[in-house]
Amino acid sequence: MAGLKKNPETKHMTRSNKKNVLLLPGDGIGPEITHASRMVMDWFEKSGRTAIDYAEDLLGGASYEKHGKPITDATLGRAKEADAVLLACVGGPKWDKIPFEVRPERGLLAIRKGMGVFANLRPAVVFDVLAGASPLKPEIVQGLDVMIVRELLGGVYFGEPRGIETLPNGERRGINTQVYTTSEIHRVARVAFELARKRKKKLHSVEKANVMESGVLWREEVTKLGAEYPDVELHHMYADNCAMQLVRYPRQFDVIVADNLFGDILSDLAAMLPGSLGMLPSASLGAKDSMGRQAAFYEPIHGSAPDIAGKGIANPLAMILSYAMMLRYSFDQADSADLIETAVQNVLKAGVRTADIAEKGQSAVSTEAMGAAVVKELSRLGG
Ligand code: IPM
Ligand code: MG
Repeated sequence: MAGLKKNPETKHMTRSNKKNVLLLPGDGIGPEITHASRMVMDWFEKSGRTAIDYAEDLLGGASYEKHGKPITDATLGRAKEADAVLLACVGGPKWDKIPFEVRPERGLLAIRKGMGVFANLRPAVVFDVLAGASPLKPEIVQGLDVMIVRELLGGVYFGEPRGIETLPNGERRGINTQVYTTSEIHRVARVAFELARKRKKKLHSVEKANVMESGVLWREEVTKLGAEYPDVELHHMYADNCAMQLVRYPRQFDVIVADNLFGDILSDLAAMLPGSLGMLPSASLGAKDSMGRQAAFYEPIHGSAPDIAGKGIANPLAMILSYAMMLRYSFDQADSADLIETAVQNVLKAGVRTADIAEKGQSAVSTEAMGAAVVKELSRLGG
């Protein structure tokens, strides 16, 4: 075939205008919720609203079982090539005893790092119909709509030096390093300012500048950047206070920006305000390249729930809503994303609940039945 030149026209056509999405069902409840989510994706394909080629690959424990590592170079390569990646979840007690470097979670951290997705968007939205499912009083959470922007590639998660060493006296010492540079702070803070600008124009920047130098730098640099966003009201808050305020009066927040570790913790806390981790999606975004392409990785906030894996009772809505985020942020299809979000709310209003969000007197439906209910509502709404 040497010497055969591809006609640029043909090249364009073979690549087509179809988007490529890499699906990673992962571990635990992952395959089940992926199946239910695909019902929704298929509906969008069949109705002609999307033109996406889906490929599936292994990540986490599933990859470890087959390849002896939680992610292979080939999978990372495919993730980087794709227009977007959608993960279900990884991990499980089955892999608790294997070496730290090959644990399922290492695969997740490696794919985030490899794709360069530094800004992790974690919305916590309380749908009115679910306010009763919150562990907090409905009047505290009603109408809540918070966006946590978590720095995803720096801080103590990746800082060097790290490790466990044995001292001459035989004592062991574990070391991790919290470290941030100005550019790492700026790029994530900019994402947060931009989001705030499109929302209620309020940003809380979170650190512990009272204890940590990296927090002092964080506060100074976010303040400097704030000069470019005079329309956004900027507040600084210590992370411990922020945890307290999220429970006491969560509606004071619009956008919160935090480092990797504080963002991890605060987003779990915020995720519980709507009542179930099973409802919340996330998007992790990288920088735009010169062609306007942006690495994007979508995943529910919840884990792999090994205790209920295989039972067909897990809530697929966080993954379905992660798919909606993908349509919104990667494919510029806000209408389709809105349609999914409305369909999900209507299904919940109609009393269709998986076990995690069922209230007294409501019988719980299966994972697949929840997927089917969303599809049925999409057809009713969207024709
Ligand atoms: C998350 C998870 C991960 C993290 C784990 C599974 C490595 O808790 O996405 O919040 O700490 O980032
Ligand atoms: Mg977490």
